[in-house]
Amino acid sequence: MAEVAQALETSNVTSIKSLAESAALNSVPSAYAFNINPNDEADPNDPEFAIPIVDMSLLTSGSPDQRAKIVRDLVKICEEWGFFIAINHGVPESLMKAMIDACHGFFSLPDEEKKEFKSGNDVLEMFKYGTSYNLALDKVLLWRDFFKVRTHPEFYSLYKPASFSEVSLEFSRRSREVALEITKAISESLGLEPNYIHDKMNMDRGLQMLAGNYYPPCPQPEHAIGIPHHTDHGLVTLLIQNEMTGLQVEHNGKWLTVNGPPNGFFVNLADQMQILTNGKYKSVMHRATVNNKATRISIAIPHGPSIDTTIAPAPELCEREGQPPKYLAMNYKEYIQLQQSGKNYMKSTFDHILA
Ligand code: OGA
Ligand code: NI
Repeated sequence: MAEVAQALETSNVTSIKSLAESAALNSVPSAYAFNINPNDEADPNDPEFAIPIVDMSLLTSGSPDQRAKIVRDLVKICEEWGFFIAINHGVPESLMKAMIDACHGFFSLPDEEKKEFKSGNDVLEMFKYGTSYNLALDKVLLWRDFFKVRTHPEFYSLYKPASFSEVSLEFSRRSREVALEITKAISESLGLEPNYIHDKMNMDRGLQMLAGNYYPPCPQPEHAIGIPHHTDHGLVTLLIQNEMTGLQVEHNGKWLTVNGPPNGFFVNLADQMQILTNGKYKSVMHRATVNNKATRISIAIPHGPSIDTTIAPAPELCEREGQPPKYLAMNYKEYIQLQQSGKNYMKSTFDHILA
């Protein structure tokens, strides 16, 4: 325990994995103290909190009527939830599992080896590895280790473990197809051309990342947090996890633990979608909780515009709805930098760009 205390004092935390594995750890060290209020949690059996499910096969190979029905459903889902579970999406179960295994392989490397992947805090690094969020800015340390790799427009990869590159290339490519199908259907749900979002957001050069999160068991899960409440900065994020739950989305003022059909993609809309739709569609607030039973691994795949795109509310939508733009136009790269600057610690980046 003395070692743990010392590591924290000097802010020399190398990974939450090694901290959590130290035998003496039976409570949450104060640097990680974060209280979760169980009264804010939703009852998953309440029909009000039934998570929407979107059958992707009806978008890709359903009849025109079936497709139209999903597109209509998406209007309500995107307005009220900003979140759904995509099923029958075509990405093989074996590939999803191989991706989780490859992440597990990476996090299982000795801290010394993982350190090779540490880098600065620029979002546009090829890859980075670390613990918490940003040790220089965090006021409360997070119960997670992470890596982030840029996979589009240029594909980069971690070079350890050996299988990582091949698996992540295929997984990134296949999950991108799902994301693009979703942006097509969302464009249509807004009464726009199917390629509207893709083209306006320059998604042929769109930023895509592969972000792995490792949440080891925590002795007091209600007194620590994996990732505190936030919205993602891109257009749409896909997420998969191992057999442990932990993702919570905010819905009707409550936190709902996401649980659903195995092999589905959890899909959340992100900030640029809210900006583009002038607030019609919602960038859902979400967070990652931890548990005291087993390690949870999640992989988030955020998809965004190209980094040089300027995003503003779509004039077509503002005109049709007779509403002035609610947000100022902003370059995507600057938006990301603003979100990740200390200024926005646990606050919404939207506040800065209200028109
Ligand atoms: C994220 C995120 C949630 C999770 O990486 O942005 O929200 O369940 N992750 O790991
Ligand atoms: Ni997120």
